[in-house]
Amino acid sequence: MAEERLTLRSARFLAADLLSRALRPGDVAVDATMGNGHDTLALARLVGEAGHVYAFDVQRAALDATRARLEEANLLSRATLILAGHETMGERVPAQPQAVCFNLGWLPGAPHGVTTRCETTLAAVRAACELLAPGGLLTVCVYPGHEEGRRELEALEAFARALPPQRFNALWHRFINAAPGAPQLLAAQKSAS
Ligand SMILES: C[S@@+](CC[C@H](N)C(=O)[O-])C[C@H]1O[C@@H](n2cnc3c(N)ncnc32)[C@H](O)[C@@H]1O
Repeated sequence: MAEERLTLRSARFLAADLLSRALRPGDVAVDATMGNGHDTLALARLVGEAGHVYAFDVQRAALDATRARLEEANLLSRATLILAGHETMGERVPAQPQAVCFNLGWLPGAPHGVTTRCETTLAAVRAACELLAPGGLLTVCVYPGHEEGRRELEALEAFARALPPQRFNALWHRFINAAPGAPQLLAAQKSAS
């Protein structure tokens, strides 16, 4: 069968693609924004039986939805679901992850009151950069279609620009002709040594 032709994909698809290449069975991964658990489940599949995922959210509803999703896939044992802010990951994740992913914004289907916030997002991304294993990957999907998302985007872009190139390769993905609120992606890889 002919191989599928290239399609340029949006931030979420690109993040998923990068994560699927970065992770191997037996790895540790962090889902910094658990939400309804789609990303936690994808990470749990990628790290396999010998790996582990640490997932964070500040809302009980997110933990419940993620637990149900993992249970249904029979993969709950591969994840630790943590009801706490992602900015605490430095104290709560006991191993160096090969990947940390963020999908910013609010819990789909829930009131928009509890969204990620610029200050805690930045603190968490800093913690993730420290925690990552050599060669590890950080992905952050940012949604600048709302006020807090625009603040996050500005702060993250400044942060990424200032990452020392000897320690990280950082890239920013956006469709240059998309609507201003379209999702964007920060991806950064820690140097291998
Ligand atoms: C867009 S949703 C994540 C979607 C999710 N990855 C999925 O696959 O369904 C963003 C989530 O971040 C959570 N959140 C907000 N502030 C947070 C914080 N300080 N630490 C961890 N999670 C936070 C929200 O409660 C919300 O569930």
